[in-house]
Amino acid sequence: MSLFPADFDAFALLAQAAEAAGPQIDGPFVIRLLSRVVHIMFAIIIGGGLFYLRAVLAPAGADACFANRRTVWARWVGIATFFLIASGLYNYIMFVREAKAAGAPLPSAYHMLFGVKFLLALFVFFVAAILAGKTSLADKFRGNMGRWLNLAWTAVMAIIIIGAMMRTYH
Ligand code: HEM
Repeated sequence: MSLFPADFDAFALLAQAAEAAGPQIDGPFVIRLLSRVVHIMFAIIIGGGLFYLRAVLAPAGADACFANRRTVWARWVGIATFFLIASGLYNYIMFVREAKAAGAPLPSAYHMLFGVKFLLALFVFFVAAILAGKTSLADKFRGNMGRWLNLAWTAVMAIIIIGAMMRTYH
């Protein structure tokens, strides 16, 4: 005598369970995923670029940092700044809304972390832009290239730690 009815289909049950457990692949899901991928990608571009400038090029002097292609890096700093702010704000709004809709609004600690992360990011964007700038002020900042890159890279590390901490809230 079998424990299961004659028409019991274990595979169908497993497939149902897997579908129920996995994410609902729809439009909003794809946009959220894209926004996270874009955020991480441009975090790598600006963070990695600053790290490479600090660890490899800056010890050889400010002129060695851009190989006469300063404007190319300046353009990427601008593009990364735009996409990090856009995807960051979108991620923030969606996480706050989602938590509220689930009846468990994110605590003030989350918003405080976001605020600190945003200010640190503005500092990183400023340093990356001014070091790649064409003004006399940019020349002055490049005079202390190593120190500004140290500060910017330390801020990038702090931003990544805060991003990982924020993720633990949802
Ligand atoms: C240098 C600039 C930045 C870097 C290197 C950076 C890096 C990161 C990283 C690595 C994460 C974790 C990604 C994940 O696991 O999904 C993250 C998450 C996030 N970032 Fe940024 N980010 C930067 C700027 C910004 C800006 C300007 C904003 C806001 C306008 C922002 C808002 C967020 C939000 C809301 C999250 C999601 C946190 C969560 O899971 O609750 N980020 N960021």
